[in-house]
Amino acid sequence: MPLSKRLSSCLKFTQGFNKLADVGTDHALLPIAAVESGFVSEALAIDNKVGPFAIAYNNVKNSDFASKIKVLLSDGLNSLDDKVDVVVIAGMGGSLIRNILLNHSLKNVKRFILQPNNDPDSIREILYEIGYYIVDELIINDRGKYYDMIIIEPGTVEYTQLQIVFGPVNLKEKSHFFVKRIEEELERLNKLLLSISLVDRRIAIKARIVLLEEALK
Ligand SMILES: C[S@@+](CC[C@H](N)C(=O)[O-])C[C@H]1O[C@@H](n2cnc3c(N)ncnc32)[C@H](O)[C@@H]1O
Repeated sequence: MPLSKRLSSCLKFTQGFNKLADVGTDHALLPIAAVESGFVSEALAIDNKVGPFAIAYNNVKNSDFASKIKVLLSDGLNSLDDKVDVVVIAGMGGSLIRNILLNHSLKNVKRFILQPNNDPDSIREILYEIGYYIVDELIINDRGKYYDMIIIEPGTVEYTQLQIVFGPVNLKEKSHFFVKRIEEELERLNKLLLSISLVDRRIAIKARIVLLEEALK
């Protein structure tokens, strides 16, 4: 099965590492593609629910790479061994990814590739605390929906509040989809202001508009 644009973007960032762990693997398409393309030499496909684990297990068994990919029914980063140097956590809410990073030992992981479906700021907020910093960021548009990708490696950087909300690399690079997503939100909020009279709600919307305009500068 071909990888979605979202997972293909995650895949690219695994290149050059040795052992991948895909946490919340579901179908295991990502670790199969990473081993198949030679980006990593082995992989763990991890899920904490029986249904996705069974699908992952069958997909790996039916691939040509069953000897190189171990499928594990396990929570978060619990089953990582010391050889794992790159981890993907994709397709979950930002707060779930944040909890996985906060509640487990991060071992020898040299790179995390994080693709939250929402609330990317809740991940950026804890990076200093867990000793990782952002080396790259991307916003992709897959079938009409925007997704954030955050690539982190060991190191510490203190981010400003604006950087936590929008991402330091995003703010610097102002990519096409970064600008487009903000412009779309600005248009929606400005329209909303025309129909809302509640004072508190208007103040909150105006504050968000100021923040969005700041991000575009
Ligand atoms: C929506 S799927 C995303 C699948 C795939 N990573 C992708 O991006 O297409 C999320 C998967 O994460 C798994 N999951 C959620 N919390 C987890 C945790 N703490 N540890 C391992 N897997 C988890 C769920 O069971 C589910 O299969």
